Parts: sequence; structure tokens; C-alpha cells
Amino acid sequence: MKAIEIRNKYLKFFEEHGHKVIPSSPLIPENDPSVLFTTAGMQPLVPYLLGEKHPEGKRLTDYQKCLRTVDIDEVGDNRHLTFFEMMGNWSLGDYFKEEAISMSFEFLTKHLNISVDKLYVTCFAGDEDCAKDELAASCWEKAGLPKDHIYFFGKDNNWWIAGEEGPCGPDTEMFLDTGKEPCSEHCDPSCDCGKYVEIWNNVFMEFYKHKDGSYTKLSQQNVDTGLGLERMAMLLQGKKTPYEIEIFAPIMEKLQQLAKIEDIQSRRIVAEHLRSSMMIIADGGIPSNTDRGYILRRLIRRMTRHLNKLQIDLNELPNLINLNIDVLKNMYPELEQNREKIAQILVAEKDKFMKTLVNGEREFEKVIHRLQNENKTVVDGSIMFKLYETYGFPPEITSDLAKEQGFTVDSKEFDKLFKEHQEKSRLGSEQKFKGGLAEQNEITIAYHTATHLLHQALHIVLGEHATQNGSNITTERLRFDFNHPAKMTKEEIQKVEDIVNEQIKKDLPVTCEEMTLEEAKKSGATGLFENKYGDKVKVYSIGDFSKEICGGPHVTHTGVLGTFKIKKEESSSAGVRRIKAVLIK
Ligand code: ALA
Repeated sequence: MKAIEIRNKYLKFFEEHGHKVIPSSPLIPENDPSVLFTTAGMQPLVPYLLGEKHPEGKRLTDYQKCLRTVDIDEVGDNRHLTFFEMMGNWSLGDYFKEEAISMSFEFLTKHLNISVDKLYVTCFAGDEDCAKDELAASCWEKAGLPKDHIYFFGKDNNWWIAGEEGPCGPDTEMFLDTGKEPCSEHCDPSCDCGKYVEIWNNVFMEFYKHKDGSYTKLSQQNVDTGLGLERMAMLLQGKKTPYEIEIFAPIMEKLQQLAKIEDIQSRRIVAEHLRSSMMIIADGGIPSNTDRGYILRRLIRRMTRHLNKLQIDLNELPNLINLNIDVLKNMYPELEQNREKIAQILVAEKDKFMKTLVNGEREFEKVIHRLQNENKTVVDGSIMFKLYETYGFPPEITSDLAKEQGFTVDSKEFDKLFKEHQEKSRLGSEQKFKGGLAEQNEITIAYHTATHLLHQALHIVLGEHATQNGSNITTERLRFDFNHPAKMTKEEIQKVEDIVNEQIKKDLPVTCEEMTLEEAKKSGATGLFENKYGDKVKVYSIGDFSKEICGGPHVTHTGVLGTFKIKKEESSSAGVRRIKAVLIK
């Protein structure tokens, strides 16, 4: 079933069940400067979820264009997208759990013909804020789902809120069993190995979370649902990635014909970023150096770079745009209406960036050769900054290129230099977007130290093999990839958390010594890329608990870290697990 057929079926089904079909809001939120883009179907409906009367009534349905940029760097793999379409239905103080679940079940099994055998759901397990959702589970059973297809999880899995404050509540999530072998005996719908894929979420929004973390009841009980259209189309068509469905297939094929080198990741990045940029422009976005405009600029630049990497003649861009509009115009007539504007903006931005790209890449090549000759593995911040200042070369492109050559980048140092530069020239306004020029500040420094504690705790709980495979820190969380063959059990996760929190409580001093690599190894320090480090290395010790080769910086005492909490443990790639964790003050 094609995506558009799924969309039409969805809207028709809910219309027949008393819902009014409302249009998608634009990707760029109207009258809401606090968010950059619409990220969920409920976002334009917040006032009505809070009790305001909606002119179309209490039962609504729509498709909503959404853009999420948190995972922008992951685009190119087999699942992440920035732009996607979310189908949704809402009850604004009208029906609640029973009817919502019965409609979801009917739509999935009767209209999309998904077999009950393959359908699994999760419900909220209950905690001090809200009781276990026995009602949701019994509604699923009543609808016809076997009891052993119903799981219960806590807030990490079965509680939904957009951001930190706002309407929220327990949810029930629906999953499709792809038929893949379970990754371990603990494999269940909360597992990220790919056996169970989430297809739909029904949120029972009857709470409001306040800034201080407390909850109060809303004046009405709402239902907010979200079904990812591209993913559903992919699953119903038996495809492994969204790039194989009719939305992306023509452009992917065209790129393959035009490309002089084989690189599926680059083709995906081009196809994905092209679609997102077109959608943003159609909704009024223009490239600039701040906020939304900068996200658009980044998308276009990255697309341009990957077109160039594929050795595709950049004069092909208008043809690619036209092809994409032809493919997508039945879903998004606004693309056709803005055909000329889209081409103009994209081509102009590409042209503007090309010169920078050519000069910058040439300079980057020189730098990388020098670093390779010096056996270095890190592109330091001053190099990134020089490329930026002298050639206008964007840091995220330097970072992309560096990674492709097996280097890491010191973006913290870059950020520092960038900030100084900004202050000097008084250019700066706050960088609001996530995943942009990540800041180095108190919070990220604390996460850095917490990462060391986590690394050592994993060694203790899982064994010496659980070494670092990657790390990424933002002001919101730490993300840590490590080698381990199986999903961690609840007990293991708890143990790791406890060990880290114990070290925080002990308020251990964090100290730094400079020594040669040999000395560092002898002292028992762990470290990445050991044989490629320069002569002298910094070794950071946290009391007697951890000793790691690292560039820093770190907090001076662990006591300032607050409480460490693992939010997610999931698969990253074969044999590599990923933990996302936060520090709560
Ligand atoms: N608002 C819910 C989500 O985005 C439905 O998953």
C-alpha cells in the first residue's frame, strides 16, 4: 500500500467515526517562536488540549508535516529522517481509552489488514504520579489482542510529553513484529534491535507537567495519537528502509544513475535533505544564519556536499528538484505551487556554498594529510575555526569530512573560539537549535565526567570488554556507545546506575596529570585510539575509581553532578549497545 493510500484510508476511517478532517499546519509553527519546527501532530493543537474550544469540534483527524532535527547527524542510516508525516486523531475531552483503542485495533487489523499475530502493544506500568494502566490493557484484550501481546513499562517507554513542560500522560504504543529472530531472551517491544517496530502511539493526555516537575490534572481527558506514515508504508510494503518506498525510490534510482561513485549513505542524505529543504521552503522558510533559516541552510549545504561527493554534476539539481516535486506533488500540492521558488532558493544556496565547499575541501585535504603524517586522530578546534573563519567552511561539514577519514573533532574547542569570535564582532544571537554548534558549558562538562563514571561502571558490571565505541554529549543528555553483545538486563542497568550514583555521593576529586602514553598505559589508564595519541597525554583520575586518557575538561569533584539516570539502553549496531543518560540536579 502506497503512503498516500494509507493517509487517505486513515482520514476516511476517522471521518466515518465522527472526526472532522483538519488541514496540516505548516512546518513552521504559526505564532510560536519557542519551537523551530512542528515536531508532532499535537503541537498546533496544544491550546485545545488545554481546554479551549476547537471550531471543528471535539473529534479531529489530520496528517501533519513534521520536522525533527535532533537526529540530523544520523540521517543516512537505514531509518532516521528529518521530515516525516504523522497521521493523528484527537479527542478533545470526548472519547477516551476504550474507544481510542478499539478504533486503533479496528483500523490496523481490518483496514490495513495487519494480522493480530504480529501486533504487540505496551501500556503504562504505573508509578507515584499515575496508576498502572489496567484499563488500556483490558481494552486491548476486549478488542481482540491476546494477553501475552500486552506489555507494561514505566515512564521511559510509556509516557509522552513534548519537551519538559505541557500536556502529557500515559500512552499505549503499538508495535509490529517484523518476524526477525529475537536478539536475546529478554527481547520485547521495548528493545531496539529491530524485531519490534513501533507503528502508532495513543497518548491519554489528562495531565499537565509543570516546570518544577509536578503534575496536575487537565480540565478534560484527551486522546492524542501519532502514526508515522513513511514507516507504516515501509512495513506494509515489506521494505527494510524508507528509502525503498515510492516516496524516495525514484530519486534514489536517479541518484544512482548519475553518481560516479557508489555510496548509499550519501544518496540517502541527498534524497532526505532535498525533500526536507523543499518542504521547509514551500512553507515559507528561507536560508539564513539563525534559527530555522540555519537549519535549512545546513540541510542544503549537507545535500550539496554529498551531491559533490557522489560526483554528480551540480547542474543536475533543478532536474532532481523537478523529479522530486513530480513524485510528491499529489501528497503536497504546495510543492507544485512553489516549484519555481523552491528551485530558485535551492540553486542559489547551492551556488553560494559551492565556492566555499571547493576551497574549504581543498584546505581540509591539506590539513588532514598533515595530521595523518603526524599520526594524529583529532582535528582540533583551532583548525576547525580557521577553516570557518578563513574559508567560511561550516563546522558540521568539517566534522562530517573528518569522520569519513576516521578522525574525531574537538568541537568544544571550536565552540569556544567561535564564541569569542562572536562576542568580538557582536554578531551573536543565541544559538537556539539543538544539535547545532554544541556548547561547552557547565552542563556538558558535567556530562563528560559522568561519561567516565559510566564507562568504568560498565566495566565492573558487564566486564572489561565493555569499552567505549563512541560518545556524544549535548546539554540535554549523554550518549555512550560501548561494545557488548546483548541487551542489558534491568538489573544490570540498575547496578550501573547505582555504582555511578555511589561515586557521585562520595564526592570524589577529579585530577589530571600529563604523562607519556607509555606511562599512562603502565598506570592502568584506559583510553581510545591508544597507539595514535601524541607523545604526552592527559590522564584524568576520578578518585581511585576511574583513570582515563582524555582531553578534558572535567568537573573538579563528582558531588556536583546530581543524580545519574539511564533513560535508554538500546542497540546501536551489531555488538554495540547505546546508553542515553541524564543528570538530574
Ligand atoms: N504526540 C504523540 C507522538 O508524537 C502521539 O508520539
